Amino acid sequence: MNSPKIAITADLHWGLPKCEAANTALVESLRKNPPDLLLVGGDQGAEFHFTDCLKALATICCPVGLVAGNHDIWVRSEDTRGDSWRVFDELLPLECARHQFHYLDHGPWLLPEWDLAIVGTMNWYDHSWGGEELARRFPKDTWRLEQMCFTRGRHNDRVYVRWPEGMTNASVTQDLATRFANHLEKAVTVAGKIVVLTHHPALPELGFPAAARESDPETPSMDHLLWEAFSGNSRLEGIIRDNADKISLVVSGHTHRWRSGSLGQARLVNVGSDYPVKNLIRLNGLGGEMEVEEFGPN
Ligand SMILES: [Fe+2]
Ligand SMILES: [Fe+2]
Repeated sequence: MNSPKIAITADLHWGLPKCEAANTALVESLRKNPPDLLLVGGDQGAEFHFTDCLKALATICCPVGLVAGNHDIWVRSEDTRGDSWRVFDELLPLECARHQFHYLDHGPWLLPEWDLAIVGTMNWYDHSWGGEELARRFPKDTWRLEQMCFTRGRHNDRVYVRWPEGMTNASVTQDLATRFANHLEKAVTVAGKIVVLTHHPALPELGFPAAARESDPETPSMDHLLWEAFSGNSRLEGIIRDNADKISLVVSGHTHRWRSGSLGQARLVNVGSDYPVKNLIRLNGLGGEMEVEEFGPN
């Protein structure tokens, strides 16, 4: 059985002027040399830019699977689309269906011709990363978790992610992780190779690199702990670790920082696309060389 050529990117943030040159060049490269499968790891674009991004990706001749990112579910207070959960669970999947793209939070993408399944989730956060250490070392600052306040500035999710009555970041985290576990369980029964795609990092190894933020990486600052608390969760992390022997590749986005490593036989990558510079990973088969093309303003 042949191995597919897979291309992976994330964090295109379609519609932001600072992303335009890189996004145009990236799509052009994919059009000239389309892969067998394209995976997109979230933050396609806020509001109508999500659709604009899908329209551009639809000009590439290949099947596409994606997860949503936090920016994709931002809503304003008077947003006629409703709350963030409706956007996530109804409107974005409809938009994907229109383009025949696979919305991974609604089911694994089974590709029997390659003996492969792609399992993905937007993944969310519940303070299970970073929260305990923050409470121990900075007990007077635990209010920052709920308010999403750093020492300077606030996380925009606190303003633009609006869950309906009765839902919280913690309940969304559990819901998404449970869906992911069910999808993974189904996928491993039918496919010999599994690729995992998440927006928020699946593992701390794919999260914000401490060295980029810290003078002393052994003692993370309060802001670093807050970033961790808003980046992922230990439930999904546990599911990945428990099933690592069945997974070939785990790819995440969101941090805009490149990371790579391994977990047993599974390769780990954070795509690392930033605003002006986008990364495109090309894999010639799951065991093959990993090439990273970088696109940015000239
Ligand atoms: Fe992003
Ligand atoms: Fe993000």
